[in-house]
Amino acid sequence: MKALVWHGKEDIRCDTVTDPEIQDPRDAIIKVTSCAICGSDLHLFHNFIPGMLPGDIMGHETMGEVVEVGSGVDGKLKKGDRIVVPFTIICGECDQCKRGNFSVCETTNRKRHLADKAFGHATAGLFGYTHLTGGYPGGQAEYLRVPYADATHIKVPAGIPDEQLLFLSDIFPTGWQAAAQCDIEPTDTVAIWGCGPVGQMAIRSAILLGANQVIAIDCLPERLSMAEAGGATTINFETESVVERLNDLTDGRGPEKCIDCVGMESHVMASLPDTLLDRAKQMVMAESDRPHVLREMIYVCRPGGIISVPGVYSGLSDMLPMGAFMNKGLTMRTGQTHVNRWTDDLLRRIEEGEIDPSFVITHTVPLEQGPEMYQVFRDKRDSCVKVVLKP
Ligand SMILES: NC(=O)c1ccc[n+]([C@@H]2O[C@H](COP(=O)([O-])OP(=O)(O)OC[C@H]3O[C@@H](n4cnc5c(N)ncnc54)[C@H](O)[C@@H]3O)[C@@H](O)[C@H]2O)c1
Ligand SMILES: [Zn+2]
Ligand SMILES: [Zn+2]
Repeated sequence: MKALVWHGKEDIRCDTVTDPEIQDPRDAIIKVTSCAICGSDLHLFHNFIPGMLPGDIMGHETMGEVVEVGSGVDGKLKKGDRIVVPFTIICGECDQCKRGNFSVCETTNRKRHLADKAFGHATAGLFGYTHLTGGYPGGQAEYLRVPYADATHIKVPAGIPDEQLLFLSDIFPTGWQAAAQCDIEPTDTVAIWGCGPVGQMAIRSAILLGANQVIAIDCLPERLSMAEAGGATTINFETESVVERLNDLTDGRGPEKCIDCVGMESHVMASLPDTLLDRAKQMVMAESDRPHVLREMIYVCRPGGIISVPGVYSGLSDMLPMGAFMNKGLTMRTGQTHVNRWTDDLLRRIEEGEIDPSFVITHTVPLEQGPEMYQVFRDKRDSCVKVVLKP
């Protein structure tokens, strides 16, 4: 089959690889009908997340049709079913899965010794991601093996196009969880850094969850326009002071809730000297992340507020203002998304027409054009916000 394969830094190719097969009774195989490129894939593209190996198949936003099921799938799935695949591989049985903490499933990371070392404790297996999360082949491919398929799936009905359902795999529940863990109250201002696909979903989620005011921050005009169309007031961090504007828009008090939809690769700008220092340290491997957004959020957040971090960080971040964080009594909530915790509710909202996540798609291309689209998405060329690939 054809698949997008990681060969090294900024080197992803569309290769012919061996078709996946059932390896365990709980496996299923799907024929992929749509998949997408995520901002998290860019961190792998840049080789900022340790534990990638040449030959790894990329992709963790995938849906398709079940073509084969193992004997242990136990009637939960059958040939012909249409499923969206959550990016977190879950067993459905361990203590964390029972609590709904699916992204920290205790069973599915088959390389837990690596993660135990890096993070203190292993987290769930993820598709198409680093070997720290199991090194499972991803779904930017014609076929995907879904391990623990009896639990790791979201069944979706016929009659709704792929484009409206695909993002149940990741960015829709990710934006939703980011907003939900802010415990939004009707008087709250929610400030959202980053208007990429995750930021766009967080903006719509914060509005659906009843925020009084949503403020979105980025520097790309087309992404800021999309944020405005979703109901946000916008700040362009290249031309305006984020801290001043946020204070102006909140009578000097700062936003009660702050969401980081940027993560470890915050924009590097001469006017933001900390970002230059982070970049220099990243180059000599003295720091793994560029946490400018975390610093800005802690500084501007209203005392007693909540900082929600869906943006991915990989390792060590320097110069976090713990004095401000502690003295202001802030709370930080974060995590890879517990996808299946949210999907019944979100699928219902799609079915009832409350939200159509396909608004974020700007490019739909054949899988073979994937390698080129990694660059277009990375460079934000051609007003690119979200790429869907069709195998
Ligand atoms: N927690 C999860 O489960 C989960 C799931 C999906 C994605 N993610 C992470 O979410 C983040 C965003 O993903 P995406 O797909 O939207 O990526 P993206 O790269 O398309 O978007 C990031 C946006 O941040 C903007 N940005 C950069 N520096 C900024 C700054 N200083 N202030 C404000 N905006 C800034 C960029 O211009 C860009 O529009 C990534 O780190 C990704 O890894 C996490
Ligand atoms: Zn993702
Ligand atoms: Zn589990």
